[in-house]
Amino acid sequence: MKIAHNYVGVSTKRPYIFSFFVDRRLKLGVLGGEDNLARLLCPRAGPVLHDTGASVRILADLKTIDEQDEKTFMSLNEIAKKLVASGKGIMAADRPRATFEQLLESEGIPVDEGAYRNWSELLFTTPSLNEYVSGIIMTPEQTRLRNDASEPLIAGVIDRGMIPGISPFKGMVALAGSDGETVGSGLDGLRERLAEFAAMGVGFTKWRAAFQIGPGTPSYYAIEANAYVMAQVAALSQEAGLAPIVEPEVMLLGDHTIARCFAVTEWVLSRTFEALYVHRVDLEGTLVKASMVVSGRDCPEQADVDTVAEQTVKVFRRGIPAAIPGIVFLSGGQSDYHATAHLNAMNANYELPWKLSFSYARALQREPMRIWGNRAENAASAQAALYQRAKMNGLASLGFWTEELESEAGVSTG
Ligand code: 13P
Repeated sequence: MKIAHNYVGVSTKRPYIFSFFVDRRLKLGVLGGEDNLARLLCPRAGPVLHDTGASVRILADLKTIDEQDEKTFMSLNEIAKKLVASGKGIMAADRPRATFEQLLESEGIPVDEGAYRNWSELLFTTPSLNEYVSGIIMTPEQTRLRNDASEPLIAGVIDRGMIPGISPFKGMVALAGSDGETVGSGLDGLRERLAEFAAMGVGFTKWRAAFQIGPGTPSYYAIEANAYVMAQVAALSQEAGLAPIVEPEVMLLGDHTIARCFAVTEWVLSRTFEALYVHRVDLEGTLVKASMVVSGRDCPEQADVDTVAEQTVKVFRRGIPAAIPGIVFLSGGQSDYHATAHLNAMNANYELPWKLSFSYARALQREPMRIWGNRAENAASAQAALYQRAKMNGLASLGFWTEELESEAGVSTG
């Protein structure tokens, strides 16, 4: 257990001295004295733990303790707010090596040993990316990659003012007894792994659940199981001082209507937030990574941009508390144009209690990867294309994007 603060509490009400500590999740540990007194001084604390091994550092009165608690609490909130700072969003670069190499093959791009590192380095070192990108989600392997001068790539990301994030999950596995539904794996040893990532300068985590709409899916079982796993990861992240991004993705694949997508999204969000409450997750230190409410990819009737914006805002108002500092979208297979146009329509036309921004992988990197083609001489043009997409989405996060800006940049509206 990581101990953030130790106190000797002097009760102002009773002539009694005792000691306790509060960890980064505001869990309360009593070293000597009465549980009830400790709880009186630290009312927002979770369950009382007993630990006689810790040393006592601070002699504090009630006021000091409250101030210290607020500081501990704020740090997660500050990370979350920084990630959705005005005009900025997140780049999801966390494709694992195997998936990345498969993608290159399917695009006819040559695969070699250095491709993963070179692509990651290209993404992380794109000039001026920090004007529109606040944080970069990485795989565990990417947090350990180094450049030719043997400097860790993650250090360069921090130096450029962006927050590194981690996707600690170890892939989707079948939910036992389900009909092909999945849950993320990687909970074993997660507490220790998160502490290591935090020590490397990582500031946040991302954990995804994927819900496929079909006949009878998603099931109650899959929604409940995934909500609990996401919440467990969020609680462990906050314990390690990392702001969690909780990602319940309702997938685009399928021929379902936008109305079905709305109903499933509403259900998934309500169960996800119930689980976050049960797991004592601080909402002020959490972001949601959400899918938009759209027609299924193969639905004959495709909702237009304004309807997608209207339905997405409506479902979020029902299901996402205003305490959440921001919602960042995944692109989920939408075209670059639609991912940007939808985000812009929401920000341009609605008064919202949260920041709405992006956490795109494909909608930022599709075009840059095509330009790069695993050839070093194309790296600068690929970086220019990435900067351009980040800029378009940064403007969309403010509601300032226009179609004219896209045609100037030569992007098709298909
Ligand atoms: P896409 O934007 O390609 O959907 O990816 C986002 C992501 O990181 C999913 O976890």
